[in-house]
Amino acid sequence: MKLVDRTKITAAVVALASLSALSASFLEISPAFAKEPPPQPVVLNASAVAVADKYAADAAEHIFREGGNAVDAAVAIAFALAVTYPEAGNIGGGGFMTLYVHGKPYFLDYRERAPLAATRTMYLDDKGNVIAGKSLYGLDAVGVPGTVEGMWEAQHRFGKLKWKQVLAPAIAYARDGFVVDEQLARRREDASKEFGGRTNFDNYFSSMKDGVTFKQPALAAVLTRISVDGAKDFYQGKTADLIVAAMQAGHGPITKRDLLEYKAVWRQPIEAKWNGYQVITAPPPSSGGIGLVQLLKMKAILAPQFKDVPHNSAQYVHLIAEISKRVFADRAQYLGDPDFYKVPVAQLIDDAYLAKRAAEVDPEKPSDTKSVQPGLGTSLPEKAETTHFSVVDKWGNAVSNTYTINGYFGSGVVVPDAGIVLNDEMDDFAAKPGVPNMFGVVGSDANAIAPRKRPLSSMTPTILTRDGKVALVIGTPGGSRIFTSIFQVITNIYDFKMPLKEAVAAMRFHHQLLPPNTIFWEPYKPIEGDLAKQIEAKGYVLKGQDFSGDIQAIRIDGDTPEAVADPRGRGVTRVVQ
Ligand code: DON
Repeated sequence: MKLVDRTKITAAVVALASLSALSASFLEISPAFAKEPPPQPVVLNASAVAVADKYAADAAEHIFREGGNAVDAAVAIAFALAVTYPEAGNIGGGGFMTLYVHGKPYFLDYRERAPLAATRTMYLDDKGNVIAGKSLYGLDAVGVPGTVEGMWEAQHRFGKLKWKQVLAPAIAYARDGFVVDEQLARRREDASKEFGGRTNFDNYFSSMKDGVTFKQPALAAVLTRISVDGAKDFYQGKTADLIVAAMQAGHGPITKRDLLEYKAVWRQPIEAKWNGYQVITAPPPSSGGIGLVQLLKMKAILAPQFKDVPHNSAQYVHLIAEISKRVFADRAQYLGDPDFYKVPVAQLIDDAYLAKRAAEVDPEKPSDTKSVQPGLGTSLPEKAETTHFSVVDKWGNAVSNTYTINGYFGSGVVVPDAGIVLNDEMDDFAAKPGVPNMFGVVGSDANAIAPRKRPLSSMTPTILTRDGKVALVIGTPGGSRIFTSIFQVITNIYDFKMPLKEAVAAMRFHHQLLPPNTIFWEPYKPIEGDLAKQIEAKGYVLKGQDFSGDIQAIRIDGDTPEAVADPRGRGVTRVVQ
């Protein structure tokens, strides 16, 4: 259904709903208004959420108490985080939602798209060199945002509550303000230094201080219009006009037509059997689902080599790095937007192919980086702010959602009179083959820039089911570290039998083929002392990185959900009876 039609329906729903009980029953029986799925029996003793901040958790709890399901709660969280977690929560960015609703898997791609004016060489100078910062800061860095359309699609297809109800918490946070957390205040200061006056970031955010209430009346007005007019306001109404005016004033590339033509896409999720579980995860334009499945399967194939290898020992780090090398070689070569480039998904996660790749792993020492080529015989990048939330409801539905504006506070541009922080997702394209992006990953033709194309992502919202029931909902921010982090937590839970909390808190590390034989460690649990010496003795270089991920996970044991928010962030959980 076209955006315009659905918007008319919403306006009608809102008007009708306010009329009488008669109109309410009309909504329920009219096929035109029917929502999927039909009523479900209660199967869990609680609903649960793990999310990056307490305000969004409160919003979710409120939605559950109003009778909402996991999708209603997820949409309410997404809008709330756009207000209270502005470094990554957004309506000016995009993302991916993996769902399990009524026993069936779904995947919604609401990733940003390149504007129509985008060109393959838009970030290169006349000598063909990448212009530093052009894909990261200011209007040129912005992809056409997909979040509002994505939330609209998901809620209209699967939500139980009215659209207005799921927007209400976010509107209240924007209008009445929220108390700024110390971590947010610090990130704002860092971002202000990074943007260095190149954008209007400070005009909007300079009054955001630790412990002080921050109000956003312009954003409240935008969210209120979206709650009344639906996604249409963002893509063709007053909010669209404000975005286009900001673009015109600063000679940015996004036009009215770009917004009008934006579409979210329902795609087939990646599915794979692993260890008695069904892994349901993100397909292209994410690289993460394929990467996660490749990691899980290769580790399982190499079980004999992993036997008796202690968790997070030097040998463990080596074997995982060897597997990761192969995964990142494939990522750089084969992955991009499937609407523009034929991604060989089935081949990349095929058991026989992965057995062949796993057999190349050297159990003793790091394989020479140059010798690790893309495995299908025919060689990518990102930036660091994003947020993930995991939701389950008592009917057994689950939502795993990762969305982003890419770097902290995106491009640093805030749409005047709207309070919308715009993304810098264009940096996720390969501006030039072989030149690393902000995450140090490189890319090829598969991820070259083209109008309407979606940049390759690593976001990996994932759900594991067993016997048709949700067992785990998991995801994290972290750019190219996303799927290596999720992989480590999943193996901590199922291979090492750790309790969820311990599995999430355990030390994580990362290798991505380039730079050669480099193991990144995280500040939360640094690799140091003997372990560092042992890893270096194997031929690796150790490097600190300033970001450790922020896993939000829910595990279901029998009929009881357990939620864990990563101790690395300011996330919280709620279990709502
Ligand atoms: O889509 C991607 O893969 C990146 N834009 C995600 C950025 C990210 O995770 C930042 N998090 N720390």
